[in-house]
Amino acid sequence: MAKLTSECACPLIEMNNGCYIPAIGLGTYEVTGDVLKGAVKDAIDCGYRLIDTAYRHQNERELGAAVREKIEEGVIKRSDIFITTKLWSTFHEPNDVEYACQLSLANLGLDYIDLYLIHWPFSFYHISDTDFTPQEYDGTYLMNNVDYIETWRAMEYLVWKGLVRNIGLSNFNSEQIDRILKSCYIKPVVNQIECSPHINQKKLINFCWERGIRIISYTPLAKANLNRKKPDFLFDEDVIGISKKYQKTPAQIALKFLLQMGTILIPKSTNRRHMNENMQIFDFYLTEDEMNIMGKFDKGKRTSLLLRFSNSIHYPFNIEF
Ligand SMILES: NC(=O)c1ccc[n+]([C@@H]2O[C@H](COP(=O)([O-])OP(=O)(O)OC[C@H]3O[C@@H](n4cnc5c(N)ncnc54)[C@H](OP(=O)(O)O)[C@@H]3O)[C@@H](O)[C@H]2O)c1
Repeated sequence: MAKLTSECACPLIEMNNGCYIPAIGLGTYEVTGDVLKGAVKDAIDCGYRLIDTAYRHQNERELGAAVREKIEEGVIKRSDIFITTKLWSTFHEPNDVEYACQLSLANLGLDYIDLYLIHWPFSFYHISDTDFTPQEYDGTYLMNNVDYIETWRAMEYLVWKGLVRNIGLSNFNSEQIDRILKSCYIKPVVNQIECSPHINQKKLINFCWERGIRIISYTPLAKANLNRKKPDFLFDEDVIGISKKYQKTPAQIALKFLLQMGTILIPKSTNRRHMNENMQIFDFYLTEDEMNIMGKFDKGKRTSLLLRFSNSIHYPFNIEF
């Protein structure tokens, strides 16, 4: 696919291989069943053309069904929609990578994946397809420590075989990315990382930018929950002031901040009003002062720390970025 063609509600971003990805997509973590199906269909109707999932989410089946129904209804063509899914950490052994990809393809009911990512740089032993974090009897995690360089080689093979169109990384740090770049035949197109006003990842964004790797910001709203008045930046007086100036919501200001930092966004929502809102961020620009105000919320605070796996030699968060 060179370029998506249908009425995508947001701009398309060119990646280092000449392919395009929508600037905004729908996140789907922890959404399953009919709620997920409804959300994906609503998102497509709202003009979303990028949907993000992972084998680990265990919702590929419903996601694929919703997409296929929209194709059958004639709303979109397969070539209009961009599906991202991810290789889970029990499948890092090179011989397991194609097997895992075929599992995702079968779940989705599609014959290719638009973007396939290594979900995390660390790995576990593959005990069964649904034991995602296998443990010993004493509770110790069965970390496998496969070198992700070997895993990447098998990911490249998936492109050559036509099973996936683009390959990339998720949760990789700067040293790990440079190791991949030194030995790859196919460069990663993206690194999907946690990026929100709470952890704006300026250094890793610049590092990837200099190497032609796009950043996809996950958890961009820091798992917003307005009823519980979280996160703080959505209730901050300065942010509310900026939102009033542009007649936007604080959530739109936070997303715009990440967009202007040069990242692609995948906010999750099952609420059609929020889905629409999250797309309506292309008709204004934050000033440098306003960007600085948004920058003050950076505490390097991750929601996705996975500290229990920090004994892996490939744990990504033991260095600054
Ligand atoms: N690669 C990785 O390791 C990784 C890790 C975590 C997540 N991800 C991906 O990133 C996606 C997004 O991250 P996330 O789901 O953790 O959190 P998130 O997108 O930061 O926050 C989701 C929450 O924000 C609310 N929300 C969305 N739009 C809103 C708006 N305009 N105003 C107010 N609230 C709003 C949603 O509630 P409503 O439903 O009510 O709108 C939802 O509960 C995931 O779904 C997943 O696809 C990837």
